[in-house]
Amino acid sequence: MYLVLVSVHGLIRSHTLELGRDADTGGQVQYVIDLARSLAAHPQIHQVDLVTRLIQDPKVSKDYAQPMEPLSAKARIVRLPCGPRRYLRKEVLWPYLDEFADELLKHIRLSRQLPAAIHSHYADAGYVGSKVASWLGIPFIHTGHSLGRVKRKRLLEQGSKPETLEEHFHFSTRIEAEESILAHANLVITSTHQEVQEQYSLYDHYHPERMLVIPPGIDRTRFHPSQVGDPPIRQQLKRFLIHPNKPMILALSRPVPRKNLATLVKAYGQDPSLQEQANLVLIMGSRQDIREMEPSPRQTLTELLLLIDHDDLYGKVAYPKSHLPEDVPGLYRLAAQNRGVFINPALTEPFGLTLIEAAACGLPVIAPLDGGCRDIIANCQNGLLIDTLNQSEMQQALHRALGDRQQWQRWAESGIRGVENHYTWAKHVERYLEALHHLQGFRAPQIKEPPSIQTNRLATVDRLLVSDIDNTLIGDREGLAHFLEHWHQRQQPTGFGIATGRHLESALEILQEWGVPLPDLLITSVGSEIHYGSQLIMDTSWQKHISYRWQPEQVRALMQDLPGITMQKPEQQRSHKISYLVDVQKAPSMREIQRLLRRHKLHVRVIFSHGEYLDLLPIRASKGDALRYCAMKWGIPVHQMLVAGDSGNDEQMLRGNTLAVVVGNHSPELAKLRGESRVYFAQGCYAWGILEGIKFYQF
Ligand code: GLC
Ligand code: MG
Repeated sequence: MYLVLVSVHGLIRSHTLELGRDADTGGQVQYVIDLARSLAAHPQIHQVDLVTRLIQDPKVSKDYAQPMEPLSAKARIVRLPCGPRRYLRKEVLWPYLDEFADELLKHIRLSRQLPAAIHSHYADAGYVGSKVASWLGIPFIHTGHSLGRVKRKRLLEQGSKPETLEEHFHFSTRIEAEESILAHANLVITSTHQEVQEQYSLYDHYHPERMLVIPPGIDRTRFHPSQVGDPPIRQQLKRFLIHPNKPMILALSRPVPRKNLATLVKAYGQDPSLQEQANLVLIMGSRQDIREMEPSPRQTLTELLLLIDHDDLYGKVAYPKSHLPEDVPGLYRLAAQNRGVFINPALTEPFGLTLIEAAACGLPVIAPLDGGCRDIIANCQNGLLIDTLNQSEMQQALHRALGDRQQWQRWAESGIRGVENHYTWAKHVERYLEALHHLQGFRAPQIKEPPSIQTNRLATVDRLLVSDIDNTLIGDREGLAHFLEHWHQRQQPTGFGIATGRHLESALEILQEWGVPLPDLLITSVGSEIHYGSQLIMDTSWQKHISYRWQPEQVRALMQDLPGITMQKPEQQRSHKISYLVDVQKAPSMREIQRLLRRHKLHVRVIFSHGEYLDLLPIRASKGDALRYCAMKWGIPVHQMLVAGDSGNDEQMLRGNTLAVVVGNHSPELAKLRGESRVYFAQGCYAWGILEGIKFYQF
């Protein structure tokens, strides 16, 4: 199998990851690298491409500008251009993702092998992955890592203003992308059950039956129970502790309020028998000068120092100023040697990686009754879940963990076993491949060469001009005459196509009426039908391809009672296109209609044109998707397609790497494309605009 993983943002390379350098280079980066390597190590997989963004920026290492970088014998990083060259934060990458999708399609086309699946990470990559997988008709897997609706809700609860959030984080774009990802995905992989139950459930397209919990693995070459030599961090601790050999209550987290370290210090500070029994060791990242830190860690650390002083805990609490990543496994083992306990006192903990690390080193744990911690304790049976705001419950749990030797031993052993059975990458890959084999059963029909290949010019062209009909190609007789004259002088290997909202017969009729020769490619009914060549051979595999999750009966039934919305004429209704006329004064907004459909578990693409036409199509269909499908099928690169349009149903083909022309007389719904790269807004109207675009691109 060949697998494609996509993770667009952050700094990804094969060695010395710069984790924590910025908000985009953290856990997810580590996760995708580990996943790519572990998948590639499996005998059933012959290649894994981890696809990310190419960055050429003096502010970051040149490593991120290499188009290819090996990760292991069968895995590599592939970097594709996406917008400007410089390093950008993930929130501003949205306008460039259509380009990324076309670049990915090109990469796959050039690699001449169809992936068994595309697996995207985070909403930006999901936007890309859902498109490309749908063009190719291959399984699409997604992992959210974090979700827009959840983050937005949290920030609003903390008092942020909706407008500022929107401006900085572009939540509405992200959430819309996430909804569409969920509509396409065959499988969503999460790390915890809580993500499925409490996070994905906030989405209209919530389909828990397509979700699977497979926690990530940890590196057991680092996290294991056998201590080799004396870990250097021990010397550090000795500077704080009068009896350094007492059992250790170990906590390890960033000093921020959510981690709730203050409750732990109070619980310890107000329990003399606990102090008698054990030392408290707080590992809180690295610091130089607390006074110069950001407000949140500064306040947290100051409060902790005051609490330590208040309860006079000198000689009993250690809080080293810095530590190295290499120190961490040794610390867990040191704590295990003297029968200590690891505690995560956080208020909430979505995943709880440190608990798994501690378990792998044979150290029992105490954790909040939340998120991933529940899964971990259920799998490992190596400690207690508590209400971390309840100080006396915390004290009791610590006493229980430190007091009962037999139980301590059971927990330590069971934790090591639990990690082996649930939290190794080898286990992860096993379950992953099992799920993937299931998906291949549902696999959409493969792209096949059409039978009529010899009769179709498309097989011989290397570039293609595709125009919408109404108000683009047609509308101005003189402009059209000029266009046709120009066209007749064209170089041979250029193909001609139309992409229209009209159905086939009506398109043929108007083309004839205006004297336009028969095109090589006819994309009709807003992209839901494709015909080729002079014999008008219908692409039936396209019809099968877009039937994915299409339930026209249910859609019609649901739409029936909406005010201000009436069916277009019967001849406009097609097997994969349901069309309405909209009275915008009386009808619900397009957003509301989309939400209504989603909440009824209906997978629909909503396209609004000319302020009055509403087309409901399968999620895989649009003029732009049909065009990419043809690009694959006929081997015509997307960046060698000039496309022209004027209204909403043209949007999908104007985005991305196509050479797009918006004619001067366009409808208002296309104004939002202004400023997008490779979208040329012509001054000229109708066919004059197309001619202008041909000149602009020197096509
Ligand atoms: C054409 C079609 C109509 C569709 C409209 C917008 O006019 O005939 O059914 O709604 O295009 O796509
Ligand atoms: Mg039009």
